[in-house]
Amino acid sequence: MRRVVTIDGPAGAGKSTVARKLAQRLGWKFLDTGALYRSVTLAALRRGIDLSDQAQLELLADGLDFQLTPDRVFLDGEDVTDAIRSPEVSSAARLVADSPGVRRRLTAWQREFAREEDLVTEGRDQGTIVFPEASFKFYLTASADERARRRLRDHQARGQLGSFEDVLASQQARDRSDRERAIAPLQPAADAEILDTTDLTVDQVVEALATRILGR
Ligand code: DC
Repeated sequence: MRRVVTIDGPAGAGKSTVARKLAQRLGWKFLDTGALYRSVTLAALRRGIDLSDQAQLELLADGLDFQLTPDRVFLDGEDVTDAIRSPEVSSAARLVADSPGVRRRLTAWQREFAREEDLVTEGRDQGTIVFPEASFKFYLTASADERARRRLRDHQARGQLGSFEDVLASQQARDRSDRERAIAPLQPAADAEILDTTDLTVDQVVEALATRILGR
């Protein structure tokens, strides 16, 4: 039986960095599910699709081809790794993530991706909806200020402008919509272990999770 580790939590809790490193450490496959929601969003923006038009969004998601490697994202064969991190995509992704049709298609895609190999996956609904049977479930959090500081550093590293206040405000909007959406809202699975990463380094978090998984 293949094993799955799920890592869920709000934006800026360190999920992607931790999940990627943990996957490397364990030698397991890595899945960044936010990259899929971002890719559908990019395609919708490029095609001028109305993001509240559920039928159009579902049709779009059904027709897209995704390929993920540990560090690149391909949408219909095009490398969109950088394009899906733009501020426009980040803020519009909320609307796409609310779409039941898109979620259905991406949930099926994620399960297929995990069919044969051991996997570390991160997102908002991995332990609750997509892999309820996962072997290990973690929910990472951090204070709102610390999460915004981390996001700001990410943005600066990509050369994007914007103040701490801007990042904090858009983070609050995303947190609210992640938690309040009717379908697959952000919440810890009942059997998830919750870890506050505010005062921890990435390596400390990876070490803590690896220790639980490897039973040492
Ligand atoms: O983690 P991220 O910032 O790359 O996620 C992008 C968007 O997709 C964000 O609005 C939350 C949403 N998302 C989701 O609804 N479910 C997931 N499993 C992953 C991301």
